[in-house]
Amino acid sequence: MSQPILDTFGRQHTYLRISLTDKCNLRCNYCMPHEDMQFMPSAWLMSAEEISSMAGIFVEMGVQKIRLTGGEPLVRKDVGTIIESLGQLPTSLTLTTNAVFIDQYLETLKKAGVNSLNISLDTLQEERFQTITRRSHFKKTLDNIYRLLGEGFSVKLNMVVMRDLNVDEVIDFVNLTLHEPNLHVRFIEFMPFNGNQWDFSRMVPYQELLDMIGAQVTFDPLSGEAHDTARTFRIAGGQGTFGIISTITNHFCAGCNRIRLTADGKLKNCLFDTKEVDLLGALRRGEDIRPLILAHFQAKHFAHGGHSNFQEKGAKAEYEQNRSMIAIGG
Ligand code: GTP
Ligand code: 5AD
Ligand code: SF4
Repeated sequence: MSQPILDTFGRQHTYLRISLTDKCNLRCNYCMPHEDMQFMPSAWLMSAEEISSMAGIFVEMGVQKIRLTGGEPLVRKDVGTIIESLGQLPTSLTLTTNAVFIDQYLETLKKAGVNSLNISLDTLQEERFQTITRRSHFKKTLDNIYRLLGEGFSVKLNMVVMRDLNVDEVIDFVNLTLHEPNLHVRFIEFMPFNGNQWDFSRMVPYQELLDMIGAQVTFDPLSGEAHDTARTFRIAGGQGTFGIISTITNHFCAGCNRIRLTADGKLKNCLFDTKEVDLLGALRRGEDIRPLILAHFQAKHFAHGGHSNFQEKGAKAEYEQNRSMIAIGG
């Protein structure tokens, strides 16, 4: 292994999230704020070969887990080739997807050894799905989720909880875990990015979610891993689990092991750090990208990319400079 990717807080970065595209077949406005968003021209995107080369270098530097994200990774035409090639690396491989196209890729995923997927779903109500996503793929999404469970995949279901949108469905999502051992629901505190109308009052905090759930069912905490985003729980008699991803009120940065590569090949050392390093440019010029990676992680802040408390005056000006979520990939 060449030099591990360390920061000045002693954290080693072994988990690479690669965004394949900033396009999506849905239009959730907390993620893609502008309906007329200008997508990246295709010449800016990493090609399948470039993704494979970059991933190989990161693996030599200690990466053990790769997650493909988007936008929606499965809208990219050559995603099958990318999954096949990354599946050959000695790492675990997985995706975060909205599941709309999953049925077309089941065999490819299985062949590449993918056995767990994270799926975004913010509502269990068809009409509301249409309102949130501005598209009508509800039935397809739900069918695909149950198809995956039927085929033995482990599924983490991501619900971004918003007070004005879907908070009344939290308990319905919790109840899904009663009979599904491979289903893990995660409630996500709404996070601020460019243009997404974030406001603390729209976000439902960790403790409030726990109190809300506790008023209806009993549950126990589960132990987790140091690098987990979610704190997890199991309801009495439940087979699956639920968890809460509390970036805003109870962050988990101390255990951070994440590296992000945007679809246009920029390296981010934190979801919230706006400083990016152009790895793709360096790769295309034939330069060694390793020193760039090491230096960027030496500059990593302890939490939230060094940005102030999101509620403080002036914070908005900072997070508005970040990309929108669709161009980062979560
Ligand atoms: P696992 O690999 O299964 O732990 O998934 P994950 O939770 O890391 O990733 P996923 O893509 O499912 O994202 C779920 C939510 O967690 C999204 O809102 C992401 O933006 C958020 N998230 C993922 N990684 C990080 C991170 O490093 N920091 C913060 N603050 N949030 C993250
Ligand atoms: N805050 C929290 N989570 C978000 N996601 C997208 N935008 C936001 C946001 N503003 C989630 C998606 C997806 C994951 C990658 O990030 O629902 O599951
Ligand atoms: Fe890591 Fe930044 Fe996420 Fe904190 S906010 S866990 S430092 S990526």
